[in-house]
Amino acid sequence: MEIKVWSYLKEYEQLKDEILKAVEGVFASGQLILGEKVRTFEKSYAEYCGVKYGIGVDNGTNAITLALHALGIGKGDEVITVANTAIPTVSAIVTAGAEPVFVDINPATYLMNVNQLEAVITPKTRCIIPVHLFGQCADMDPLLEVAKKNNLFVLEDCAQSHGAEYKGKKSGALSDVSTTSFYPTKVLGAYGDGGMVITDDEKIEQKVRRLRFYGAEKTYYAIEHGYNSRLDEVQAAILLTKLPYLDQYVARRREIAAQYNTLLRDTELVIPEEAAYGKHAYHLYVVRHPKRDVIVSKLRENNIFVNINYPWPIHTMTGYEYLGYKEGDLPETESAAREIFSLPIYPTLTDDEVLTVSNVLHDILHKI
Ligand SMILES: Cc1ncc(COP(=O)(O)O)c(C=O)c1O
Repeated sequence: MEIKVWSYLKEYEQLKDEILKAVEGVFASGQLILGEKVRTFEKSYAEYCGVKYGIGVDNGTNAITLALHALGIGKGDEVITVANTAIPTVSAIVTAGAEPVFVDINPATYLMNVNQLEAVITPKTRCIIPVHLFGQCADMDPLLEVAKKNNLFVLEDCAQSHGAEYKGKKSGALSDVSTTSFYPTKVLGAYGDGGMVITDDEKIEQKVRRLRFYGAEKTYYAIEHGYNSRLDEVQAAILLTKLPYLDQYVARRREIAAQYNTLLRDTELVIPEEAAYGKHAYHLYVVRHPKRDVIVSKLRENNIFVNINYPWPIHTMTGYEYLGYKEGDLPETESAAREIFSLPIYPTLTDDEVLTVSNVLHDILHKI
């Protein structure tokens, strides 16, 4: 038996009729771009998050760039984030024209160490981007306090945190503007690319709406320089079909995480910690062990496929050398990158498959 780190195929089997009907509905509607499906999904997802406005965009990377642009952030500005994230958090800052500045992570949660923020704030700092990585929110209250004290914007990167909560509020509802991705592997995934900017601020909403459509409010007339960054009707229709299941997806992910927690508790693996302040959506179930590379290759020999999210911290990549960081600058980030790996977790993973992953892991851990 082969266990994949992620697959949508069983989900598709279960939802096939609904999904094909939704897609057929779009094709038959006569409206393929910026129609009723995008509008309804924007409203529904914003409502789910407890936020006023949602603007559907083409992916989670451009969502960040557009949101930064809407905040007036660009050339000459600094944006603080983490190096333990997917490349797009950082590439989007660079695309917006600003310079990324990194703080280290809290090793217990792998999320932004908010205690280090004050030390890197300069007169050029304009914004903090906490990444709610792996499905769990960064510690927002102290972060928002630092932002307020220093007059900085906060943009939550919620690409991995659909359904996650911080002190009873949904991720994305905690800051000036938030962005998310509906890349297929995400907790709420499209069957292609997709993203959204959400905000309570009408000015930001209108600006992002223009920016995703060539800077135009009406067809063929640009008020300002913009992009083409639209969510399309087909993906919106699929996402609308899946949105009512989002809470179930999160519940099943939490159930699988609880099973792994019990099964792996007495091993040398460091299992994920759910911070007391919130609700983890377990986009990823990330474990840690100093012999990570041996374990991962042995799992693969046993047809169990895991991921490493992420093997290289952004500040050590050639593409971001010019920022001037060196190995050793973010010790917790770097040491986590050497030791963490992500076990299979997705709603259609069965209890038996979870048990098999755990049994094989136990076996490997006894022998190394
Ligand atoms: C933390 C994080 N931010 C941003 C993105 C960018 O999303 P997308 O792939 O939709 O551009 C992703 C997903 O890849 C992500 O995981």
